[in-house]
Amino acid sequence: MENEKKAWWKEAVVYQIYPRSFADSNGDGIGDLAGITAHLPYLKELGIDVIWLSPIYKSPNDDNGYDISDYRDIMTEFGTMEDFDRMLYKAHSLGIRIVMDLVVNHTSDEHEWFIKSRSSKDNPYRDYYIWKDGKGDLPPTNWQSLFSGSSWQYDETTDQYYLHCFTKKQPDLNWDNEKVRNSVYDMMTWWCEKGIDGFRMDVISMISKDPAYPEGPLVDGLYGELLPYVANGPHVHEYLQEMNRRVLSKYDIMTVGETAGVTLEEAMKYANNEGTELNMVFHFEHVDTDATTTPILGKWGYDHPDLTKLRPILNKWQTGLEGKAWGSLYWDNHDQPRVVSRFGNDSPKYRGLSAKMLATLLHMMKGTPYIYQGEELGMTNMTFTSVDDCRDVEEINAYRQYVTDHKMISSEEMLKCFSAVARDNARTPMQWDDSKNAGFSTGDPWIKVNPNYRQINAASQTDDPASVFNYYKKLIKLRHENEIIVYGTFSPLLEDSEQIYAYERHYNDQTLTVACNWTDKETKCSLFDCISGRELISNYDEHKAGILQPYEARAVLH
Ligand code: GLC
Ligand code: CA
Repeated sequence: MENEKKAWWKEAVVYQIYPRSFADSNGDGIGDLAGITAHLPYLKELGIDVIWLSPIYKSPNDDNGYDISDYRDIMTEFGTMEDFDRMLYKAHSLGIRIVMDLVVNHTSDEHEWFIKSRSSKDNPYRDYYIWKDGKGDLPPTNWQSLFSGSSWQYDETTDQYYLHCFTKKQPDLNWDNEKVRNSVYDMMTWWCEKGIDGFRMDVISMISKDPAYPEGPLVDGLYGELLPYVANGPHVHEYLQEMNRRVLSKYDIMTVGETAGVTLEEAMKYANNEGTELNMVFHFEHVDTDATTTPILGKWGYDHPDLTKLRPILNKWQTGLEGKAWGSLYWDNHDQPRVVSRFGNDSPKYRGLSAKMLATLLHMMKGTPYIYQGEELGMTNMTFTSVDDCRDVEEINAYRQYVTDHKMISSEEMLKCFSAVARDNARTPMQWDDSKNAGFSTGDPWIKVNPNYRQINAASQTDDPASVFNYYKKLIKLRHENEIIVYGTFSPLLEDSEQIYAYERHYNDQTLTVACNWTDKETKCSLFDCISGRELISNYDEHKAGILQPYEARAVLH
């Protein structure tokens, strides 16, 4: 659509930093704000416009900062508010915006609101959280927390249970309480006044719960399903519209909602073009394609997803949002395994080629692209051989539930699952160079460094024109220079192909044709045979007529 309304956040490329694993400036083994500041020139060189910073607030770190005990203070290990101000100032002076992670579905149990809330039934903060009586000896519902075990924690002081969709140290806030909403809006305003450039809203689709609190169908024979009763609930749009009126609409910021359980129809409400809620959302359908439906394993499954499963999802979201809402594009983040290992091929022969193919596929589509730290280097998954090497509470809890307590799966099998899909794959330290600890830290890193850092690191890639890094750099530059990549409409091509993902973008009188070979085999493809135009990018220097070579990707403007 030629008259798509223009906005800076539609034209931007976002880079996500997971501060704990990005760069350690003081040798304590934990990444920090000064480490980020020191590496801003690297991001400037890459060419990104916006940083999404995973949480940097005060936190006891049960879930690495996604459990916040003070929204207006900085995590001790990460530095001070002065370090934050310095980082923001330096980023802005380089023309880079900073988007904060807003985690307000829940707080830490060490937040003062919760400490007060749990102290008695009649204190003013009681209703800040969700408290219920048990059913005899059982919790209020059979729901399973997203991080294993019951989603209810019994609290002796007042003989009631509180709801936690994640760990028991992450009690859910009660958004039906107006005081909670006002407290959140005040805090958001405080950060906006500081000059930050937006919010990535953590599980924001979960803030309105089903008031009936029904039992859920059993998922693994142990507990019932939770998500249907907490995602996209009855008041979620009302609350986001209120937040928009009270805070978001007053600032020139960008917003992206992490919306677990979101459908296309719901996304069109959250990210509607009228701008009454958020700018865009993250959906999960494409990254759920490897989850098996085996009753026990669910998300821990790792079927290598084929293109025929992925294509309809990608196409549906591209065409479905057109003209109605804005989309986001991502393969990786701190909750996902590394894309080159998951959807590509991380063997030495094909790692670079397939990483570039996946990047082309994503970055030529419509929507705001997100790059997760290290993705621009083609960083890969880790191999986990002992649960002692795992740091993520989701993994540790799942291991305890399925291996230790219920013996539903062997330790070896669980570790195989972790090596394929666990979140720690994304959280190994950023690989800066081939020195000790990949140049991440002079001390002992909080999580093991991927041993392949000697081959895969930033220092060896920034000056190599053929590197994955320079390919990403080129993709970002192309988006900045060609409106068709930002605003062009999308139409799918070769929808029956099992090997090739292809599409066209249209803008004014131009067409951009994109084709990607998803496999390690040469594949017939006549798409480019009768096109004469300008090749914007390809991961091969030479092409073969009528053929796409293994993992070959091409984008031609005509
Ligand atoms: C989101 C975050 C994830 C976190 C969870 C609970 O899904 O991305 O890292 O564990 O919410 O806050
Ligand atoms: Ca540090």
